[in-house]
Amino acid sequence: MLPTLLAVGLLVQIVMGESGLAARVLREIHAAIGLAGLVLTAYALWASRGRRASLSYLAVLLILVLVQAILGLILFGLFRVDLGLFELVETIHRYNAYLMLVVGLVGGIVVAMVRRRAGSADAVAKGG
Ligand code: HEM
Repeated sequence: MLPTLLAVGLLVQIVMGESGLAARVLREIHAAIGLAGLVLTAYALWASRGRRASLSYLAVLLILVLVQAILGLILFGLFRVDLGLFELVETIHRYNAYLMLVVGLVGGIVVAMVRRRAGSADAVAKGG
């Protein structure tokens, strides 16, 4: 449920950003979803303690979401930066969105494979 919510949120954010709505009417909503995503990713990391595969990819994801939120806050106007730097921040904020998508997808698939393998090893050990 939580991974689905995070994936949907990420896609919604990318659509808002690419359509230009994140810079205009949906600015506050885009910011709020992004910050909620940060909290939910931190929660997912906390909830996966004890499961090494999930823990490592969620830790990487949390760093990327944190970077994204800081860059987003700069774009939002919370910190003053000159125009040249603003464009750089915008570009990194954009590419980091797709990086999060790739890390989320690859990480999710790897974790599912590790779990399935652990599940079948368990079944063999139990004689089934
Ligand atoms: C965490 C998930 C987030 C994702 C996936 C995301 C994604 C994007 C994308 C793809 C763009 C378009 C960039 C471009 O066209 O160059 C964008 C723009 C923007 N984002 Fe985000 N964002 C996120 C979080 C945030 C947060 C937390 C804030 C603010 C607190 C924020 C503020 C903005 C602003 C103000 C723009 C418009 C920049 C401009 O063109 O002036 N974003 N975002």
